Amino acid sequence: MVKKVIVITGTPGVGKSTLAKIVASRLKLERLDLSQYYNKISTRYNRKKHCYDVDRTKFIALVKSKLKESEKGLIIDSHIAHLLPKRMVDLCIVLICSNLTLLQRRLNKRGYSQKKIRENLDAEIFQVCLLEAKEKGHKVVVVDGCTFSSKKMITQIWPALKNLGKKRTLS
Ligand SMILES: Nc1ncnc2c1ncn2[C@@H]1O[C@H](COP(=O)(O)OP(=O)(O)OP(=O)(O)O)[C@@H](O)[C@H]1O
Ligand SMILES: [Mg+2]
Repeated sequence: MVKKVIVITGTPGVGKSTLAKIVASRLKLERLDLSQYYNKISTRYNRKKHCYDVDRTKFIALVKSKLKESEKGLIIDSHIAHLLPKRMVDLCIVLICSNLTLLQRRLNKRGYSQKKIRENLDAEIFQVCLLEAKEKGHKVVVVDGCTFSSKKMITQIWPALKNLGKKRTLS
C-alpha cells in the first residue's frame, strides 16, 4: 500500500485545520493535528517568541510512527509542517491570506496579544512559510485561504492532489 503524506502550512489563522479536515475526509487520510503534540516534539517552550522550539528528530519520529499506524497516509496541518524533509512529503499546500484585515480579525478573536498578532501578520507579509517550504524543495501548491470558500479551495488543489506520484520514499 502506497501511503501519502500531505502537509498544509501557513501563518496561524489562515485556515489550515479547516482545510485539512475536508481534505482528510475526501482522501480518507488520517489527520495529524500537530498542535496536540507541540510539547512532545519540542525542546522547550520559548517564552520570548511565545512558541515551542521544535526538535526535528522527535518531529520526524512522530510523523513516521503516525504514518505507520495510518491506513492510507497522513495530512499534517501546522505552521511548522513544511519543516519536514522533502523525502517525507508528497505535497506541501501553503495557505496564504491575501486579506490581512481578515487575518488580523481572526487572530484578534483568539485573544492573541497585539505583539503576537503583529508578528504573525509580518510572517504573512513576508511569506515566511512559503519561502521555507520552497527552500526545503517541497512540491508546493499555494492557495488563498482568506478569499475562497473551502469548497473553492478544494477545486483549486484537486489537480495536485489527484496527481500525487505513486511512489513513496519514506518506509
Ligand atoms: N475558507 C474559509 N472561509 C471562511 N472562514 C474560514 C475559512 N477557513 C478558515 N476559516 C475560519 O478561520 C479561523 C481560523 O481557521 P483555522 O483554525 O482552520 O486556522 P489555522 O490555520 O488552522 O490556525 P492555527 O495555525 O492557529 O492552527 C476559524 O474561525 C475558521 O472557521
Ligand atoms: Mg490549526
